[in-house]
Amino acid sequence: MRGPIVLLTYLLNSWTVCATVRAHVGTAPGKTPQVQALPSLREQAKLLDGWTEERKALIPGLLRKYGVDAWLMSQREYAEDTVFWALKEATQFSARRRTTHLFLADPVDGAPSSYSWIENTEVVWTELRQILATQQPRSIALNTHSEIAFSGGLHAGELDAVVKGVGEEWKDRFVLEPMLGVELVATMVKSRLPWYQKMMETAWAIIEEGFSEKTIVPGKSTSWDIEWWMREKIQSLNYTTWFQPSVFILTGKGFPAADDPSASMDDPRAPDRPIEYGDLIHTDFGVSALGLNTDTQHIGYVLYPGETEADVPKGMIEGLKKVNRLQDIVKSNMKVGMTGNEILKASIEQMRSEGIQGKIYCHATGEWGHSAGTVIGMTNLQDKVPVLGDLPLLRNTYYSIELFAEHFVPERNRTIVFPQEEDVYWDDATNSWQWVYGRQEELLLIRTPAVDGMEAPTEL
Ligand SMILES: *[C@@H]1O[C@H](CO)[C@@H](O)[C@H](O)[C@H]1NC(C)=O
Ligand SMILES: *[C@@H]1O[C@H](CO)[C@@H](O)[C@H](O)[C@H]1NC(C)=O
Repeated sequence: MRGPIVLLTYLLNSWTVCATVRAHVGTAPGKTPQVQALPSLREQAKLLDGWTEERKALIPGLLRKYGVDAWLMSQREYAEDTVFWALKEATQFSARRRTTHLFLADPVDGAPSSYSWIENTEVVWTELRQILATQQPRSIALNTHSEIAFSGGLHAGELDAVVKGVGEEWKDRFVLEPMLGVELVATMVKSRLPWYQKMMETAWAIIEEGFSEKTIVPGKSTSWDIEWWMREKIQSLNYTTWFQPSVFILTGKGFPAADDPSASMDDPRAPDRPIEYGDLIHTDFGVSALGLNTDTQHIGYVLYPGETEADVPKGMIEGLKKVNRLQDIVKSNMKVGMTGNEILKASIEQMRSEGIQGKIYCHATGEWGHSAGTVIGMTNLQDKVPVLGDLPLLRNTYYSIELFAEHFVPERNRTIVFPQEEDVYWDDATNSWQWVYGRQEELLLIRTPAVDGMEAPTEL
């Protein structure tokens, strides 16, 4: 997903029969994605709490890795630290009163390594001061970063309250270690993967149904109709999403095409007109469930009546191949430990040396749609991304490989942008990034039966 994010919280309230009838071949060779039903809410809570416990257990090790003795997080109801959401229980819907967490790297005297308070009296500070006095941490991390959301979630007023609460004598032990919040939120414990794969399969299945003749009536359905169809579909499956799905008609304009400075970054949904035969269409689509978010971009082509796969303009097939190649380039440059900016530079150099024009703008995903971790380019920053691009790429994370390649399509006599977005996870067994579900290697096709007297226009 690119551009402004609208965070949408949906009431889960309806159910429609969701068997996806497949009308075309799968876009990932040999696969036919199916909608995956979610377990009951109660079962979901159990899963979530299990994953949270696994993640919490990582904290002492993280503190030692970054050389910090203690980590203090404090917040009030509705003014939560960004990290709060990664630590909460499934049945907690927000912080309550003042919610304070203290984590210790190496507690002495057999003391616990984690403490939590939900308090509205001085008790939290009295007890906290007692623990600090016994444990004597030399450094206490606070989430006060000015640029990184995942390490900057301590509210300004709460910082005042913390300083007042623990007393001035601890103030000079406060430190900022941005990687604590980043790595805790970014780390995807292994047990999450099977559900992430199911969610990704569901996202693919919704896109495949949306980009088919079941949903699109050429000459009638507009791009916005399909976007709202997707929203309703998500809701009918009891999933939610983290951004408004977008459907574009790829004309060579209307997407951030390098050759079209007038293309608006703020209105990714333009143009909203009926989808016509011969259109190349694109979607940016994600689903949310179980504290996870997916992010996918696929492309489809609207065949003229009676046409078959063999009639897809070759230039469009070549365009998809080109962007597939760019995906491979970026994926192979994503070396754990390198910074996003180093990966960007290596990828752009390789892209140019292979004669590909395009843009690269990849981000961590999973816990949040745009999750914690380094970024590899942004649509407006192709040399380097300040601050975020300087963080190292972490293992055990999920990434969204998001990019586009430009390709001259002779059948349309114009350069068209071919965007793709596909999520990967770090696989320890192979020491490499793997597609969460697959990647698009064939255009989705919208087919219509032959109509007497109607033929595809002669190509240029
Ligand atoms: C959606 O939730 C309702 C209410 O809990 C449930 O009856 C229905 O089976 C769920 N639908 C899906 C697709 O999981
Ligand atoms: C292709 O486009 C160019 C301008 O971009 C134009 O000069 C040329 O005539 C077009 N060719 C055809 C066959 O339409």
